[in-house]
Amino acid sequence: MRILAVGVATLDIVNRVDAYPLEDQEIRATSQQLRRGGNACNTLTLLSRLGHHCSWAGTLADDESSKFIKEELAASCVDTCWAHVESESATPTSYIVSSQATGSRTIVHYRNLPEYGESQFSKIDLSAFDWIHFEGRNPKATLGMLKRIRAENSDIRISLELEKPRGGLKQCLAYVDVVMVSRAYALAKGLDSAQKLFDYLHPFCANALCFLAWGEEGGWYRTGDCAARFLPAFKPGHVIDTLGAGDVFNAGLIDGLQKWDDPNEALSYAIRIAGEKCGREGL
Ligand code: ADP
Ligand code: FRU
Repeated sequence: MRILAVGVATLDIVNRVDAYPLEDQEIRATSQQLRRGGNACNTLTLLSRLGHHCSWAGTLADDESSKFIKEELAASCVDTCWAHVESESATPTSYIVSSQATGSRTIVHYRNLPEYGESQFSKIDLSAFDWIHFEGRNPKATLGMLKRIRAENSDIRISLELEKPRGGLKQCLAYVDVVMVSRAYALAKGLDSAQKLFDYLHPFCANALCFLAWGEEGGWYRTGDCAARFLPAFKPGHVIDTLGAGDVFNAGLIDGLQKWDDPNEALSYAIRIAGEKCGREGL
């Protein structure tokens, strides 16, 4: 399948530590890795590995780190021809503490780079894609992009990630086929169960398939106004690194829906590859 994903690319500086530090403590990292990150880019990396033709649309800075990002995307066979390069700018950077004891990842993210805009998106030849995935940043511009897709092509399948609450995201929901929600989004909205979250979203996307990742417990889905269905997490032998688990989960949903067109199968597959990812370092 030909997939385009719109979102950010980051430089991830991953410090591995034995255990997460206390505030104001000084500790040594046992290793340090530079990785190319960003939700949409991580999802595309997996989708490319699964055999799809992948393109990324996002903003690139013009510094040294952006060269690394381009090289890494090229190595993963992710096309960057629709990326927009912002001159005199710096790559968004995440400073990550990855705990050996628990596999948890704590992220401090800094960015000062403009988001990918509607004018850049308007140049993309949409006929080249079967599926377009949005990271759900910059809701106003995302809404414009969604409207353009629906005006030009009703066959393209569209997925939207709701990772954090951002004003205007709900208006985007009417245009999408698949909604991928994170636990962080649900909890930030004060919705502490899948049923509450799906009930909250339902009026905005009654016909969409909704999925919800729920960390080490597993994930949920809902079709139409049926009850929420839960599938438990796949447990790797040892949880090593959970950074990007949600992005791998989303890749599993896209790949799984394309293969089986069945939400239960797709969720089961997404949970499996996200759990396997947690058992290894990196994507
Ligand atoms: P994010 O990376 O966005 O924080 P989550 O932590 O919700 O995403 O994880 C996404 C999916 O990855 C979960 O729904 C689950 O299937 C899987 N997962 C996450 N953490 C673990 C874990 N500790 N063990 C097994 N699977 C996990
Ligand atoms: C993981 C990730 C990292 C990135 C951060 C951005 O899901 O995409 O690669 O630094 O989240 O929020």
